[in-house]
Amino acid sequence: YTYAFQNGLYLENFVSGYMSEKRFKHTCSVAKLAREFAVANGIDGKKAYIAGMLHDIAKEMDKKQEAIDILKEYDQEHIIRLLEKLDSKKQEELIEQIQKIDFHQMLELYNNTKRKIEFKESKIEPLKYLDKAKLTEQQHEKFDKLGAKVVENGQYAVVTMAGGQGTRLGHPGPKGTFKLDVYGKGKYLFEILVDNLKEAKQKYGVTIPWYIMTSKENHDETVDFLEKNNYFGYDKKYVTIFTQSELPLIDEQGKLLIGKDLKIKEASDGNGGTYSSLRASGCLADMKKRGIKWVFIGSVDNALLKMVDVTLLGMAIDQNVQIASKSVVKANPHEKVGVFCKMNGHPKVIEYTELPEKMAEEVDENGELKYGESHIMCNLYTIDAIEKISKEILMYHSAHKKNSYIDENGKEVVPTEPNSYKFESFIFDAFEFFDDIAILRGKREDDFAPVKNKEGVDSPKTAKELYEKFWNC
Ligand code: UD1
Repeated sequence: YTYAFQNGLYLENFVSGYMSEKRFKHTCSVAKLAREFAVANGIDGKKAYIAGMLHDIAKEMDKKQEAIDILKEYDQEHIIRLLEKLDSKKQEELIEQIQKIDFHQMLELYNNTKRKIEFKESKIEPLKYLDKAKLTEQQHEKFDKLGAKVVENGQYAVVTMAGGQGTRLGHPGPKGTFKLDVYGKGKYLFEILVDNLKEAKQKYGVTIPWYIMTSKENHDETVDFLEKNNYFGYDKKYVTIFTQSELPLIDEQGKLLIGKDLKIKEASDGNGGTYSSLRASGCLADMKKRGIKWVFIGSVDNALLKMVDVTLLGMAIDQNVQIASKSVVKANPHEKVGVFCKMNGHPKVIEYTELPEKMAEEVDENGELKYGESHIMCNLYTIDAIEKISKEILMYHSAHKKNSYIDENGKEVVPTEPNSYKFESFIFDAFEFFDDIAILRGKREDDFAPVKNKEGVDSPKTAKELYEKFWNC
């Protein structure tokens, strides 16, 4: 072995086993160059060649060892076993992914899945709102004027969150590419959003910059779809598409799942990632450059979403708040919507998955639901608020879900029961960083036609009915 090594025999084979293809190519050319220089200068070419071949030998050994060490520390031995089975290119990819994962955070998130959410210690009360239908004529006029001025001055931008998976709807593509069967011909959800922007252009004479957030999973398909449909006639120069961040999925024992691509399986980390992704993608800087003062952030799946509501905007300006949100009255205590409240003196939304039954059903002295203002993902922020939130860390919520994975024998397992946790931060968890937000109560028939489920409530059928009814009157 020593003889072979000293004479450079099998050296290439030996070295290639310790590094990626890319580094191996680089190593070979360094070794050849070293030999050329050595020979040209009267030094032993063989020695120089061996030195060149070995100059990077420890670089990836360290990285691999570091990855193994961290996997051991966090009880992820199944990934070490996977790593050892992979070829050098795949190994390199997995190591790169491991380096980016915050294992400590994953452990904390896993431990949190065992904790029950309790609001007992907190002081919870309803949040004040203004009812749009009950505004006086003067109020309406004042708000509309204030809001319209901002839009006309080109200080208004719109963000659409389109990174969700849309599993409940059962549509195979990105949700925005779902065609709602309206007026015979049908309209895609993205097209309906563009209609909003076109209408605003007509009314206020400006093209509003539109930022669309996708996930890694649906990004390419979203871009292809919008390109193919020529952005439904909206000026492409004003459309920016950016991607949100992801987090690994873990099973019930805290082990990271492996995906079909033999990497750690990751998924979008919730719409709360919008703020930091706006910053990381450069969109926030772009907004500032354009002189944007107010940013609307909304969902992709509400066929009656009003992305440019000058009354809401004017109310926010008038009330001197940094965030305003539109609500509708909850249809029934168990409707799957988040509800507004004030917790320990700060505005908050409690998501339907976490709302205690008692709170959901509580009524006030008029017999109305005490926590009946629904969050409909129609939120407005000053650019300063977005900037502030983008630097904060939002909490993560866990969702127990069915996720397929590759087992130790390399076989795909498709579970029939929830087997793993997905972690998501929620857009509205940022509200509590502020003392107050303004709520404008809208009307379900004007503002809220969600497309969530394949059938039944909040389905394409109910959204179609609401959409057609609104646009016919
Ligand atoms: C959401 C709201 C809920 C509200 C309801 C109204 C959250 C966490 N929940 O619930 O309070 O009452 O809508 O319809 O906001 N998205 C991403 N990236 C992600 C996850 C979601 O961009 O990682 C986007 C989706 O594409 C969609 C929106 O966020 O536009 C809503 O997401 P979804 O997860 O479907 O929320 P709901 O459970 O319907």
